[in-house]
Amino acid sequence: MAAYDRELEDGGPLGRTLLNEPVVMFKDSSGKAIALEDRCCHRHLPLSLGQVVGDNLQCGYHGLEFDSSGTCVGVPGQSMVPPGAGVVSYPFVQRHGFCWIWMGDPAQADHSLIPDWWWVEDPRWAYNTGAFLQIKCHYELITDNLLDLSHLGYVHTKTIGNSAIVDFPVRTERLNEKVRMSRWIQDRPPPPLYRAGMKNEDNVDRWQIVETEPPGHTVVYAGCGPVGAGDFGGPNEYAEGIRLRALNAPTPETENSTFYFYSHVWDFRIDDADWKKQMYDDFLMTFMEDFEILEAQHASIQRDVTRELIDLNVDAPGIAARNLVSEKIATENTIDAQ
Ligand code: FES
Ligand SMILES: [Fe+2]
Repeated sequence: MAAYDRELEDGGPLGRTLLNEPVVMFKDSSGKAIALEDRCCHRHLPLSLGQVVGDNLQCGYHGLEFDSSGTCVGVPGQSMVPPGAGVVSYPFVQRHGFCWIWMGDPAQADHSLIPDWWWVEDPRWAYNTGAFLQIKCHYELITDNLLDLSHLGYVHTKTIGNSAIVDFPVRTERLNEKVRMSRWIQDRPPPPLYRAGMKNEDNVDRWQIVETEPPGHTVVYAGCGPVGAGDFGGPNEYAEGIRLRALNAPTPETENSTFYFYSHVWDFRIDDADWKKQMYDDFLMTFMEDFEILEAQHASIQRDVTRELIDLNVDAPGIAARNLVSEKIATENTIDAQ
């Protein structure tokens, strides 16, 4: 994921380092979003310092123009474009409120692999797009964090922390291209967030399911329903329950920094503007608690990367997700070597 849709609303150009590569994003005159290398082929000025002219991006130094394929199509003051003049272009598509980029072999780009986060467009769900967050940590630390909800009782004591959850075991499953962590918490008091959505303060059954797929697209699905009213994951899912999903896509800026893109969808109080604002603020405040931990953890790991980590039961989902990513990288390297 390269950006939120809203960041390109003004048409760009928007420059950003992704996977250590300079990328510039903009929209052509029809509104189609385009991503190119953010480095002019002439004297390497970032093209994001230039401007969009019609369907092209014009360099801000000597006016070279590049079309959506990255080909240089105009050089001021000379009729001939030097052969081979151009910059890299990346497969790029807007979907579910985000801009998705493919920076690998263009022949392998497959839009069908973009996660199906349909709730964003479904009127039965309310939707909040996230804040712009740049974190000084490796992106896999964020996936670890999302897959490990045992930290709630320590990091989030001021917000969503609730000690009830650690009494219930976590189940880890490796699906084909995903890792799923799930926990079903039965007959416990609802935490404040759920209290706001349920009709009374009775005990509830709660669930947490976190599914992650490479490179780091993670859906946290949580909710609650009346005690005993459903068999979570079975045919009688809680019809009376309330649900929310956090859609997460940490994207590496470098190996030491990450853009954390996210949004939330929920299916209760969907027309309540105050609630929408509260959801935005509460989740941001909660994540800021993680933010501090993740940056400190990354710095500490970097101090001596040869030091071993020890693993606990709660690390199983994070380890499975890392293994899945490692397998993908190994496969990609085999293809590259052929
Ligand atoms: S550096 Fe871009 S036109 Fe010269
Ligand atoms: Fe957290």
